[in-house]
Amino acid sequence: MVSSFLVTGGAGFIGSNFVRHLVANTDAQVKVLDLLTYAGDRRTLQGLPSDRVELIEGDIADAELVDSLCADLAKGDGVLVHYAAESHNDNSLNDPSPFIHTNLVGTYTLLEGVRRHGVRMHHISTDEVYGDLELDDPERFTESTPYNPSSPYSSTKAGSDLLVRAWVRSFGVHATLSNCSNNYGPYQHVEKFIPRQITNLIDGIRPRLYGQGLNVRDWIHAEDHSSAVLRIVERGVAGETYLIGADGEKNNLEVVQTILRLMGRAEDDFDHVTDRAGHDLRYAIDSTRLRTELGWSPSMTNFEEGLAATIDWYRAHEDWWRPQKAETEAKYAQAGQ
Ligand code: NAD
Ligand code: TYD
Repeated sequence: MVSSFLVTGGAGFIGSNFVRHLVANTDAQVKVLDLLTYAGDRRTLQGLPSDRVELIEGDIADAELVDSLCADLAKGDGVLVHYAAESHNDNSLNDPSPFIHTNLVGTYTLLEGVRRHGVRMHHISTDEVYGDLELDDPERFTESTPYNPSSPYSSTKAGSDLLVRAWVRSFGVHATLSNCSNNYGPYQHVEKFIPRQITNLIDGIRPRLYGQGLNVRDWIHAEDHSSAVLRIVERGVAGETYLIGADGEKNNLEVVQTILRLMGRAEDDFDHVTDRAGHDLRYAIDSTRLRTELGWSPSMTNFEEGLAATIDWYRAHEDWWRPQKAETEAKYAQAGQ
């Protein structure tokens, strides 16, 4: 059993879900290192026990801070779980620079910290590092699919994965990696596809579908992502990569139509808008390795039920997302989206 965790990006969407998962399922102490960028919010961690969870506001590229936090982890059998990233493709097309800083320089800084102090690390990544698949490709992504990223976001995530692999091989750093498909659930920023459409509908705005809406994403609930990461931390083999997915392929049109139906609207009550530049067509994960070698399986496999619960959450937590909504929509309006 791991007694302490340092979770980078733990005030963001998936990292905060992992912190809640740790509090509910382990006895570990949890420190969160988060810069609280536009995507991070201390209110996301509100209500968690203060004797178990501590938020440290800071940059993962701050070598001095990272060094002292890694020294603390080394005093016990602490593990660093690295979620912090610039995470949105559309933002990376407008300004790639923070993606270089956080995803590459930040990950490098953490690797040097865990190397110096002999601390174990788990690196969180995305299936987008593999590029995209044709709609009719019978193969899905596996751990041996070659990297072929398309955007400044996915290429900087790919670069961060390669840094981790190199630090494992060259310096013997004890790290595992995981690449997960698209997440949904509570506390996701309203810039992302599903919360954008839900909160648009709450505001009486029609959902916005890029292009024809035929692009496919492989949806997994954030809670299943968290249980998979904890399983890898507990049982994963050092140096190995595990793909995380829940067999949830859907095209964007189907997702928008399901949201519309669940919110009591006609299924054609949406707008087609300008497509994303270089828009990846399809992602799909084969998670056989994680299931067979580590015995993991997802529990929230009914997408419609998960989506209905997510809609209820956004309806009940307008105070959480409202402050970000107008600015996010203003950015999209500028891009014709
Ligand atoms: P998010 O944008 O919601 O959260 C990112 C968090 O990182 C924020 O709290 C932000 O303040 C923090 N952060 C950003 N730069 C930082 C820095 N320099 N120092 C410290 N903290 C910083 O992102 P998310 O959707 O929760 O994604 C988390 C991780 O999961 C990312 O690594 C992402 O690549 C990966 N991932 C996301 C998805 C998805 O569907 N969202 C799927 C697979 C993998
Ligand atoms: P997004 O949530 O940005 O995740 P990613 O780019 O990492 O897959 O987008 C998911 C899909 O939804 C992607 O194909 C782009 C599309 N999309 C829309 O159709 N409309 C929108 O308003 C947004 C934000 C995304």
